[in-house]
Amino acid sequence: MDYFEIHGLKTLNGVIEVSGAKNAVLPLMAASILNQGKLKISNVPTLSDSITMSKLLKKMGAEVNFESDNSISVDSSKLDNPFAPYDLVKTMRASFYVLGPLLARFGNAKVSLPGGCAWGPRPVDFHLDGLKALGVKISIENGYVIADGSNLIGNKIHFPKISVGATGNIVMVAILAKGTTTITNAASEPEIQQLCEMLNSMGANISGIGTNTLTIKGVTSLNSISNISVIPDRIEAGTFLIAAAAVGGVVEVSNIIPEHLDSVIKSLQKANIELEVKDSSIVIRANVSNILSTNIETNEYPGFPTDLQAQWMMLMCLAKGNSTIKENIYYDRFTHIMELNRLGCNIKLEDSVAIIEGGRRLIGADVMSTDIRASAALIIAALCASGTSKISRVYHIDRGYDKIEEKLTNVGAEIFRKK
Ligand code: EPZ
Repeated sequence: MDYFEIHGLKTLNGVIEVSGAKNAVLPLMAASILNQGKLKISNVPTLSDSITMSKLLKKMGAEVNFESDNSISVDSSKLDNPFAPYDLVKTMRASFYVLGPLLARFGNAKVSLPGGCAWGPRPVDFHLDGLKALGVKISIENGYVIADGSNLIGNKIHFPKISVGATGNIVMVAILAKGTTTITNAASEPEIQQLCEMLNSMGANISGIGTNTLTIKGVTSLNSISNISVIPDRIEAGTFLIAAAAVGGVVEVSNIIPEHLDSVIKSLQKANIELEVKDSSIVIRANVSNILSTNIETNEYPGFPTDLQAQWMMLMCLAKGNSTIKENIYYDRFTHIMELNRLGCNIKLEDSVAIIEGGRRLIGADVMSTDIRASAALIIAALCASGTSKISRVYHIDRGYDKIEEKLTNVGAEIFRKK
């Protein structure tokens, strides 16, 4: 199994170009089930998750080809098997996104319930309750959702908690339901905005995009589109900004949409990090001795993203003074604390609030990745530690970061992938 060997304390200087967003390409690939023709999706990140989604679409009968120019072509016209098996769904929760489009297109679907995760539970009750509100009959048999949606009727749906995945799934059904659906407490994440914009370009009628209330007027059919380009990955961008802030140096993180990172930019500025925000990049000029402790709370967009919580925690270990992090999306998303403490951090947990001691000097150690974003925090910590660190189970990082060791090496880091 691959591991990363990292020699710490090398300042970073240069340009890092961000790839397309993992959490956008996955719903767009699921939505291609509704596209009756060949769709070219460009700016696709090379991730194991996009490969998993392509395997799932192929299993259902679609033709999917990865091209050399960071694009994939998906032809769903021959897709005829609305079945998502456990062996694929268990490896990636986002596979559950296919439930909505399969129902909208075929009127029925059999999709495995998602497996576990490093933290959780991560239920799908909002997805299922929303589908039932649209007239879908749901039964659970042997770990599978058996859905009969032959008569989709628009309705008013309110999510008890904002859910990115449930918003995506319900929108992809409601666009072909009879009548109007309103979703309150809907997700407004940029990735969901792009999904809604793609569906509208296919003839759907969704309004309120980017707000927490979506109104969907059902249509009888969709047309097909031939091209779409994935928005830049704001979480990857935030990861590299935090890495540069922690390690020190002058780094330009390019090919981004700065407004998608507003909450992160504000937090970095509060931590006394010097940033220059340009049209499609951010230049960070960092000196680790100037970082001020800054408390954060994770929240749904446009709040501070939970997917940057672990990375921020690592940064605060170097700040002047102690700080806290309150995790409001996943109360137990803290598997990275023990691993960070092995590298010399001193972080405690009290009632879902992490208490972080600042001013720490990190020392290289062997650590283990537990999930995509925890792995990113461990890489940043290793880059800030004296000596050598070894990070095992890097398959987690390969799910969500496209060529991370190449991007970091290009700006001066000493990080090597080893067998
Ligand atoms: C998406 O997951 C992202 N994944 C996650 O990124 C991200 O952390 C999360 O949104 C929150 O922003 C993708 O987009 C592929 P949710 P999702 O439904 O849709 C609860 C990463 O590292 N909930 O918005 O699964 C849930 O437990 C990954 O890239 C229910 O209770 O998240 C959580 O507390 C990790 N019932 C909250 O809602 C449901 O039916 C938000 O979850 C659904 C969700």
